[in-house]
Amino acid sequence: MSQRNAIDVVVVVGSLRKDSINRKVANALIEVAPPELDLSIAEIGQLPLYNQDADNDHAPAEWTAFRQRIKAAGAVLFVTPEYNRSVPGALKNAIDVASRPYGKNNWSGKPGAVVSASPGGIGGFGANHHLRQSLVFLNVPAMQQPEAYIGGADKLFDENAKLVNDGTRKFLQDFLAAFSAWIKANATA
Ligand SMILES: Cc1cc2nc3c(=O)[nH]c(=O)nc-3n(C[C@H](O)[C@H](O)[C@H](O)COP(=O)(O)O)c2cc1C
Repeated sequence: MSQRNAIDVVVVVGSLRKDSINRKVANALIEVAPPELDLSIAEIGQLPLYNQDADNDHAPAEWTAFRQRIKAAGAVLFVTPEYNRSVPGALKNAIDVASRPYGKNNWSGKPGAVVSASPGGIGGFGANHHLRQSLVFLNVPAMQQPEAYIGGADKLFDENAKLVNDGTRKFLQDFLAAFSAWIKANATA
C-alpha cells in the first residue's frame, strides 16, 4: 500500500498476452513496492500504430491519453520480454507514441528502470539493452545497478500467477529500494 505523497511510477509492460510472464513480474513488483512508490500499469495494447501524419491535428484519443499518462508520471519502469533479441514491437510503438509530436517528448527527464524476463537463461538481456539505447535518446536517466535480467522466469510463478520464489521476491524488493533512491537523486520536477 503506497503512502499519500508517494511517487507516481508508471509501469509499461512489453507483452500483450494474457498469461504474460512479464505482466506477472510487473504485478509482483507492484505487490512488493515500498510505500513511497505508487506503481501502476499503463496499458499499451490499445495504441494504434504510430504514424507521424496523425501527430498534431488527428492524434487518436488513445495516443493522447497515453501521452498524458506518461507526462503525469514521476518515473517510468519498463518490464519487458525479449523478441528476437530486441523489444517487442508493441513496446517500441508505445515509446514512439509518447515521444512525439516533435518537441513534446513526454518521457524526457523521468527517472527510469528496466526489468526483462524470459524463460531463457539470459533473461532478455538483448531487449533490456536495446531499450536502454532508446532511453538515452529520450533523455530518461535509466538506473544502471542493479541490473534485472530475470532468466528461467516461467518457473517463478504458481498456477494463480503468484510469485513463489523467495530469492526473486527479495531481489525485486532490493531492486525497487534502489530505484526509489535513483528517482530521488534524478528527479527533475
Ligand atoms: C516473436 C517472438 C520472439 C522471441 N524471441 C525471444 C528472444 O529473442 N529471446 C528470448 O529469451 N525469448 C524469446 N522469445 C520467447 C519469449 O521470451 C517468451 O515467449 C516469453 O514468455 C514472452 O514474454 P511474456 O510471457 O511476458 O509474453 C520470443 C517469443 C516470440 C513470440
